[in-house]
Amino acid sequence: MSPASAPSRALLLEGIHPDAVAGLEKNGYAVETVARALDEDELIARIAGVELLGIRSKTSVTEAVLAAATDLLAVGAFCIGTNQIDVASASTRGVAVFNAPFSNTRSVVELVVSEIIALTRRLFDKNTGMHAGVWDKSAEGSHEVRGRRLGIVGYGNIGSQLSVLAEALGMSVFFYDTSDKLTLGNARRCGSMEELLATVDVVTLHVDGRPGNSDMFGEAEFARMRPGSLFLNLSRGFVVDHGALRRHIESGHLAGAAIDVFPNEPKARGDEFVSALRGLPNVIMTPHIGGSTEEAQQDIGQFVAGKLHDFVSTGNTALSVNLPAVSLTSQSGVHRLTHLHRNTPGVLATINSVLADHDVNIEGQLLGTRGELGYVITDIGSQYTPDVIEKLRGLPTTVRLRLLS
Ligand code: NAI
Repeated sequence: MSPASAPSRALLLEGIHPDAVAGLEKNGYAVETVARALDEDELIARIAGVELLGIRSKTSVTEAVLAAATDLLAVGAFCIGTNQIDVASASTRGVAVFNAPFSNTRSVVELVVSEIIALTRRLFDKNTGMHAGVWDKSAEGSHEVRGRRLGIVGYGNIGSQLSVLAEALGMSVFFYDTSDKLTLGNARRCGSMEELLATVDVVTLHVDGRPGNSDMFGEAEFARMRPGSLFLNLSRGFVVDHGALRRHIESGHLAGAAIDVFPNEPKARGDEFVSALRGLPNVIMTPHIGGSTEEAQQDIGQFVAGKLHDFVSTGNTALSVNLPAVSLTSQSGVHRLTHLHRNTPGVLATINSVLADHDVNIEGQLLGTRGELGYVITDIGSQYTPDVIEKLRGLPTTVRLRLLS
């Protein structure tokens, strides 16, 4: 349903940023908000009539929720992860899922920069000493970051942005990524992680959470790092062996570390934090707050709300987590049909022959596929009759047909 013709209902849970509410209301949606997560039964009881659902990490959108959500067009995960959503079931039902993959990139990068400086300058040692009444005024062991070699493992959104900021501070940047990446500024690509580890003074991990990255950094990798170097991980907890890290810190091989993510993180605020790294003075630990800033929350709110509205009003699926990515420029004086279907040969030809049989002229069209799904946006210039729509909706391959204008 287009928000121009009737107000669509949006249900936003878990205290999603007010900018998301304001953005959707401005575009004509009737927005209901709930400050907390809803459990499955509560969500099922409230989902009827809802076209847009906004959640964060604590609400599970299960098969049962989706089955009850007969009017649902899209789910917005106002966060990065989408594990809390049954994405496969959403796809089968033609429900688009969106998230905010890079709204907190800058927040992580700024924390990394601050920690590299703090470790290189021994700020935490000095601070701890001062609180214990120790006036340790000396330059020993304190360095500038200018001229130091930074090694970034994983040169994606975060790694590449860090590369730019680190160079601005005068660091020499090296990176290693398993995929081909555009090298920014004066950064240098390493052919292997071994080469990177043997080259740099600071190693920072920014890899994604693919299963193959489990324990990718352990005893052998720490041993390859240059003596006196620093180690940071703000990516995923399960990629690092913390026992090995502790041994290399205690032996003095590594000068310090900063860790924001842990293999076992407490479920709730206030729960005890258990880690092999507790009690090491030259290890900075933070409770998975790399991306947690008010700016990031605001950006997530604006970004995901924008994606949801764009999908409802234009059918465009750019950056959707589950549907084929299709973006067709809007033009005036046309009607837009969006057709999600099972990706089998001949669907596009069938759609177009149905349109031709009814003397409907195509003004613009774009098809995309993703796995088992195909998605085509078609702009038609001439008037159409309801039977054309019914014919398309009734095709055996149709998952969902929407008429946007
Ligand atoms: P991204 O997907 O843009 O980049 C990841 C990069 O790592 C890709 O270029 C990929 O090719 C590369 N890669 C994957 N496995 C590799 C390996 N074994 N060796 C070398 N390169 C490898 O992800 P983005 O947005 O840059 O995020 C990076 C990580 O940071 C993710 O794990 C994400 O979950 C985490 N993150 C942590 C936050 C926090 O609060 N601490 C906040 C935001 C993201």
